[in-house]
Amino acid sequence: MRKLSQFLTDDQIAKVRAPLQEAHWLPNVSYTSQDFFKFEAESLFSKTWMSIGFDFEAEHPGDAHPITVLGDLPLVMVRDEAGALRVFHNVCPHDSSKAVFQDAKGLSKIVGQYHGWVWNLDGTLRDATLFDGTEGPHTLPDRDANLKEVRSSVWNNTVFVNLSGDAAPFADYIAPVEELYGDMDLSDIKPGLTKKGDEVFVERAIIESNWKSVYENFAINVYHEGFVHPGYKAAPNVPRVTSDGRKTYEEIDDRGYQGLRFTSTEADLAYGLPRSPMLPMKDGSSPDKHTIMSLYPNTNISVAPNYMLVTVLTPHAPDRTAYDSMMLLPSEVAHRSKYAKQREYLLTVDWAIARDEDGAVLKTVQAGRHSPAFDQHFIVPFWGAMCRSFCNRVLDDLERSEQCR
Ligand code: FES
Ligand SMILES: [Fe+2]
Repeated sequence: MRKLSQFLTDDQIAKVRAPLQEAHWLPNVSYTSQDFFKFEAESLFSKTWMSIGFDFEAEHPGDAHPITVLGDLPLVMVRDEAGALRVFHNVCPHDSSKAVFQDAKGLSKIVGQYHGWVWNLDGTLRDATLFDGTEGPHTLPDRDANLKEVRSSVWNNTVFVNLSGDAAPFADYIAPVEELYGDMDLSDIKPGLTKKGDEVFVERAIIESNWKSVYENFAINVYHEGFVHPGYKAAPNVPRVTSDGRKTYEEIDDRGYQGLRFTSTEADLAYGLPRSPMLPMKDGSSPDKHTIMSLYPNTNISVAPNYMLVTVLTPHAPDRTAYDSMMLLPSEVAHRSKYAKQREYLLTVDWAIARDEDGAVLKTVQAGRHSPAFDQHFIVPFWGAMCRSFCNRVLDDLERSEQCR
């Protein structure tokens, strides 16, 4: 198994651990090396909770949706007969073929395409067809022949997994998110449908940059906002500082949920909020805050007065991160044709423009990581407290690799 000391020197680690005034980003190798990427997959992503997609991709009992995460790990979401979403390693116990080759709907069983073995939707083996040459069913109770289930949890239609199976309970992981919006009534929010109204709209893209750069850019890198996004730059409140250099936003950095919060009036000035019905507050008032937040290590969960935006960032390679984004709205806005135009604008124009503007810059950031001119860039203290905290959280996870093996 890989260890952190194989990749980083004590000096490099000390520069990340340094107080904010002298703090640095992780060195270039952590953004460019395939071997480091594998190290992160086994020591960081596998050990925590990470998002992998959305539950409506396997919406009804018998639906199956195969995916690949972390570059080469095949998983499959399956909706079982009881309506529960399960995630399995997408590999046959028999001979390593994929258990599910492609998206499927309404299955009553999973049938291996290589030798026809059959599993129930809960992953138990129903029949190892012709196992001893005779007609079965052969359930092989003394063999390891069931599909391997992965620990999973669904939160607001977003599917999270803990591959190692021993991370803290999901409720603990999501607690800082739940607590931040504890005064909102989010019991009736639904994923926004396409303009036609026949399926959930998911905005998908590939960002050609390391997952850490993407994570950091989307919420905690407040500094870039007015330079990369011409639309925001035109706003009187961007950059988010007063003329005498005080921040006009609140930094939130709580147990891996980090980003910024400001008033909805400020959000409207910078982004132009939609006029659709707002998310309800428990006390009947209207929300007056807007957050842009990342949940470590790979999910963006941001809440505007009118919507919650959830983006799953799936690392595929050191220089490649998938972006899958959906919007949760008050159910009538999510579904009714009256709001179709507004939904389309929000989903396909507003955030997509910002994403593409960020993606173009992030591609050059990734290219810069290959330059020998700078190996470990410094963090700007005024803006970078959350960036330092993020880098240290990554190091904390990777350092555990030294202790446990
Ligand atoms: S490998 Fe899947 S049935 Fe044999
Ligand atoms: Fe941006």
